[in-house]
Amino acid sequence: MMTYQHIPVLLQEVLQILDPKPGDSFVDATLGGGGYTEALLSRTAPKGKVLAMDLDVDAIQAFKLRIKNQESSKRVIAVHNNFSKVAHVVAEHKFGPVAGIVADIGLSSYELDSAGRGISFQKDEPLDMRFDISGNAPTAAFMLAEYGEQELTSIFKNYGEEKFAKQIARNIVRNRDLHKITRTTDLTAIIADSIPARLRHRASDSYRRVFQALRIAVNAELENLEKFLPEALGILPSGGTLAVVTFHSLEDRIVKQFFVKAATGCVCPKDFPTCICGRTPGAEILTKKPVIAGAPEVSQNSRAKSAKLRAIRKL
Ligand SMILES: C[S@@+](CC[C@H](N)C(=O)[O-])C[C@H]1O[C@@H](n2cnc3c(N)ncnc32)[C@H](O)[C@@H]1O
Repeated sequence: MMTYQHIPVLLQEVLQILDPKPGDSFVDATLGGGGYTEALLSRTAPKGKVLAMDLDVDAIQAFKLRIKNQESSKRVIAVHNNFSKVAHVVAEHKFGPVAGIVADIGLSSYELDSAGRGISFQKDEPLDMRFDISGNAPTAAFMLAEYGEQELTSIFKNYGEEKFAKQIARNIVRNRDLHKITRTTDLTAIIADSIPARLRHRASDSYRRVFQALRIAVNAELENLEKFLPEALGILPSGGTLAVVTFHSLEDRIVKQFFVKAATGCVCPKDFPTCICGRTPGAEILTKKPVIAGAPEVSQNSRAKSAKLRAIRKL
């Protein structure tokens, strides 16, 4: 494994919202390169703890190796699991009460650039795309070999907003018996063939959208986020904070809608004299608008450009 590299995004903003104090415990649902976890460990020293999760065994192993001789290694539990099971993992480790939970959704720079899993269209690699390479969940190559035209079209359209989704899916299904699509270059060739010649100079836009869409499907990214949010809010004690960083508008929408719902109290019609629904808000929104990266951060790390941070405090 190469060094697990990732520059944390919106780190200062996340810390400001989580406001870690000595002795606090936190859950980092997406360990990645460990940027958030290390900052939380240092701010909660000498006794605070972090339970960090990641789907990628490489992230877990690299982190354990990196901190093994540090004092903080005794205060962190790194768990290889899906954040959609955060409540179960926290209970299993009898961890908490937690002051806050943070998730930095998506993929690390390591997974994009160095893992050799075919997530980037710019490298000739096998089309795997899974964050969790330890399991036997379907790879991108499997989906491209087995899924029907309609299913592929909706993946490219819904998760990638690709204009030529239908043509690309049709070409994949028509040609795949003769030319197996197992490598990134097989897929980029089919995409290039599927878009009109006059637009082919912009083919890399379609590559990016289709690759992103496949990655989201392979890793069930939206479904996992939808499961994670209520679980995370559920395990927080009153006063605990949930902070989520997203990089994609579909994810940001899921987070925003969940937070608005959690913070909504009575839903009785306005002309009702008294409340009969009995609903009270379960959380307070801490970010009226999503927090985004400032120009200095974006100039140093282009990944920060699309990052959006939203947070709530449990009531
Ligand atoms: C953007 S990185 C996190 C970076 C981290 N905040 C840091 O400072 O280095 C996202 C990480 O989430 C992991 N991940 C994605 N989906 C996951 C899931 N459902 N459960 C757990 N980890 C997941 C990826 O493997 C990746 O390592």
